[in-house]
Amino acid sequence: MINKIQELIKEVEAFSSKQLEEIDQFRIKFLSKKNGIVTELFKEFKNIPKEEKKEFGQVLNILKNKVQDKVEFLKLNAEESDDTKIKLDLSLPGDTDYQGTRHPISIIRNEIIEIFARLGFTISEGPEIEDDYHVFSALNFPEEHPARDMQDTFFIERNPDVLLRTHTSSVQVRVMDNQKPPIRTISPGRVFRNEAISARAHCIFHQIEGLYIDKNVSFADLKQTLLYFAKELFGEHTQIRLRPSYFPFTEPSAEVDISCSLCGGKGCNVCKYTGWLEILGCGMVDPNVLETNGINSEEYTGFAFGMGIERIAMLKYGIKDLRLFFENDVRFLRQFQ
Ligand code: DAH
Repeated sequence: MINKIQELIKEVEAFSSKQLEEIDQFRIKFLSKKNGIVTELFKEFKNIPKEEKKEFGQVLNILKNKVQDKVEFLKLNAEESDDTKIKLDLSLPGDTDYQGTRHPISIIRNEIIEIFARLGFTISEGPEIEDDYHVFSALNFPEEHPARDMQDTFFIERNPDVLLRTHTSSVQVRVMDNQKPPIRTISPGRVFRNEAISARAHCIFHQIEGLYIDKNVSFADLKQTLLYFAKELFGEHTQIRLRPSYFPFTEPSAEVDISCSLCGGKGCNVCKYTGWLEILGCGMVDPNVLETNGINSEEYTGFAFGMGIERIAMLKYGIKDLRLFFENDVRFLRQFQ
């Protein structure tokens, strides 16, 4: 009998587990009040011959203590490792980081501002609610120009001299009102047009206007400034092309295309197989505009340009629908950093 208990002690000493369930089964097997091994052995006590009782009792107590110590020790270990397992469970989903991202329009606007800041352009702003003078008259728009039309411009019905600016060129007028040449400034901002909303047009969008007035400013300066800008924004290999155009406030005027940033000029469906993408309007500031705004056109010349930020963002990011910029769907917005 004693030998059997010695064997059991060895078994207890050899047992090991980190699983709480297994440890509990081990405890039940030995210590269960019902028919645990140790409990059963204690029941045997009365059948043991007198002279063996003392030794039997001692060995049985050793077995009982060993089982209890073992269970306690293994439980501690198991509990501890279970704990650390929870802490280090690499398969658990991480804490969601709800940090916001910048709007793609802000990203592009900031990039454009940075490029022109390197050329010494400052930033100037003007009001979104304007009057006819700053949006049209001072910019040489003839009385009957269609841009003044109710169809394009949001007027306040009771007072047609209060309107939402249709372009940021109005800021040119305010800058010339307040500063003497040399002037080198860009004006980012929101503009408003009474247009049907579609994938290509919206009644609100963003523009950046540029104005440079100094002595001896030439068309070559304009061209070189825009080439630098295009290469900085769209990559080193970008080429520009100027097409003659008309704006009331510039003479001569041009529209500027960049070589298609997607196909590199070979022709694709984005550039409609022309290899070129239109990005802005520009020209030499019309002497009429300089004079209206108190700048001597004999002494000073200047250039101006204006571009839509949405259009540039669409080209840079390959976005096909302008409405996405205004819907604020986070699944769209989260893609931009
Ligand atoms: N204001 C023009 C528009 O909204 C854009 C523009 C064209 C601005 C030529 C300029 C410019 O300064 O020189 O379509």
